[in-house]
Amino acid sequence: MTNLAQFVEALPKVELHLHIEGSLEPELMFELAKRNNVDLPFKSVEEVRAAYQFTELQDFLDIYYQGMGVLQTEQDFYDLTDAYLKKVHSQNVIHTEVFFDPQGHTDRGIPFETVINGITRALNDGNEKYGISSHVIMCFLRHLSEEAAFETLEQALPYKDQILGVGLDSSEMGHPPSKFARVFARAKEEGFKLVAHAGEEGPPEYVIEALDILKIDRLDHGNRSLEDAALTQRLKEIQIALTVCPLSNYKLAGVTDMTKHPLRQMLQSGLKATINSDDPAYFGGYITENYLAVVEALDLSKDDIITLARNGIAATFCDTDQKVALSKKLDQYLQ
Ligand code: HPA
Ligand code: ZN
Repeated sequence: MTNLAQFVEALPKVELHLHIEGSLEPELMFELAKRNNVDLPFKSVEEVRAAYQFTELQDFLDIYYQGMGVLQTEQDFYDLTDAYLKKVHSQNVIHTEVFFDPQGHTDRGIPFETVINGITRALNDGNEKYGISSHVIMCFLRHLSEEAAFETLEQALPYKDQILGVGLDSSEMGHPPSKFARVFARAKEEGFKLVAHAGEEGPPEYVIEALDILKIDRLDHGNRSLEDAALTQRLKEIQIALTVCPLSNYKLAGVTDMTKHPLRQMLQSGLKATINSDDPAYFGGYITENYLAVVEALDLSKDDIITLARNGIAATFCDTDQKVALSKKLDQYLQ
């Protein structure tokens, strides 16, 4: 391993774009299928991995929604979340802000409370066991209706102390942020932080809608913003963070060659980019592998890596004291 790779591995990192259902490894998928008597259309772990060939977002989403069908009980959601934390603890993640997709479960008859209680119990235990602090962000599935998103928001209100923010994910094309203008306005009134996937597959106009109409606090992906010079300038001026997911982009979003990944241009344009894993069980790597993919392909320097790590801390939804504590861990490592 190179010095730089060792540096990245041991670097205290934060993760801001991680779908907990996307951390379901095939081994756990089989274990839960057995536990819950769910039939899987695969015979082996190898067969599952072989099915993970995607040419676009929708190919992935189809198999991702199918995979989450094994998650049934609160303990399943606990085990899923604990497995993720255990893994990223080994990669020196010190803080994570975890997405979940309630509608992917409630639409299968799993109660909202089963999902949120399993996830937050594991996160609370993980804070003790692994020293990883965390927040939870609930995403609306944008291919479903505005009405369904409103129902989901209503279901979340009793769990406001466990859910810090709301986001928007799933099939981007044809489902612009404006479709959820009223839901996000309501979520803002309720005090939730706001994020949205935009510019992953969708055009720069979707990013502009996420800013102007949804009034997001942080932008998930945002890659295609670079096609619009005025938008790029605006993202620089407002210093909104972008949660970039290199291996996801390689698997889904038309980055055919990591050396052409837009991260370099983002950094050169003064955008506040961060590195994240998105759906690590499906895209071939957790946060360290995502850092390493761009470090190698884009020939990033140690200073670039430190900038990315600092951007991550600055972009968390932590309060000032928590951010100072996270920065201290990073500074201690750098000394
Ligand atoms: N994009 C959109 N929706 C998602 C993703 C993604 O990368 N992962 C899980 N849901
Ligand atoms: Zn995502």
